[in-house]
Formats: sequence, structure tokens, C-alpha cells
Amino acid sequence: MRSINSYIERNFTEKRKLHTFAVCDLAIKLADHYGIEKGNVKTAALFHDMFRGVPEQSLNCYVTHLGLDSKYLNNPNLAHGKIAAVVMERDYGITDRDVINAVSYHTTGREAMSEVEKIIYIADATEPNRIYPSVDMLRKLSFNNLDKAVLESLKHTIKYIEERGLYLDNDTVLAKDYYMKKERMNE
Ligand SMILES: [Fe+2]
Ligand SMILES: [Fe+2]
Repeated sequence: MRSINSYIERNFTEKRKLHTFAVCDLAIKLADHYGIEKGNVKTAALFHDMFRGVPEQSLNCYVTHLGLDSKYLNNPNLAHGKIAAVVMERDYGITDRDVINAVSYHTTGREAMSEVEKIIYIADATEPNRIYPSVDMLRKLSFNNLDKAVLESLKHTIKYIEERGLYLDNDTVLAKDYYMKKERMNE
């Protein structure tokens, strides 16, 4: 079976390696904290950005050849996770749906994420190399209440996207609504 570690070694810039291993470390800490199996978050973390640095034209070829939705054309920010989710199963033999979904939805989030999905989503957003105003608050919150941390991160992403007039994926909107509703029900 192909090895994601040698793929990373051959293809990633130093910056992307640092980010990937930092997501991996933080995801393992969160998994430990919440009593989740560590192997799954580790695998998802290593694969999540395998197509992040790939040129847009190549990503477009993958989108077409893999039969992915045309909304992922010319949209590397969304396409990279969707392509990785297919390739990790096809070429690397990863079959665990939680792990595949964690990679697939790491950029957008979605409704009713599994623990592995939430951990990858928040670890990607808060690993130590990330710098933005609310990141320290999110880091602390992620060890106290994973759902709340995910919700705050989703709100932050939506604000960022709307302020800049970027493409907002419907999964992100649905995710925010889902976790807001869940929070209200727990009050
Ligand atoms: Fe990513
Ligand atoms: Fe990432």
C-alpha cells in the first residue's frame, strides 16, 4: 500500500509539513482528551491537505475525472479536501467512513459531524501555527466543549467569507444552523 508519509516527504513544502504535523499533534491531544481512538484522527490529519498545494488546473482535472460536483471547479479551497477523500480510499486503501468524511469536510464542516470530523475541523483551524484574533479563545474552548468550539469556528469562517465576498458553501451554513440549534437545546 502507498504511504502517505512518503507522499508528504516528496510533495509538501516545509510550511505545509509543519501545518500537517501540527494538526496531527493537536488532533491526537484532542482525541486523548475526549477518549477517542487516536489512529483515526492521525490518519485523517496526515491526508487532509494532500492536495492543498496542487495547481488549480490539476485539481480541475481531478474534479472532472472523479465525477465530483462542478462547484469544485476553479475552487481549490473546497476541492482539495473532496479530492483527497476520494484518493485516500482509491489509492491508499483507507476505508473508515469517519476518517474519509473528516478529510472531505475539513474545510466546510457539516451537520452532525462525528467526533473524528469535529476534531480534525477544529485542529485544522487552531493548530499552533494559526494566527488570527479569536484563535486563543477557540483553542481553549476546543478542550472544554468541542461542539461550541466548532460553532464558534464556523461563525468566524462565515464572517470572514462574507466580509470578503468569497464563496460560502451550503454545508458551512447548515453546520452553523445545526450547532446553534444543538446549543440552544442544551441550555
Ligand atoms: Fe485544507
Ligand atoms: Fe489544513
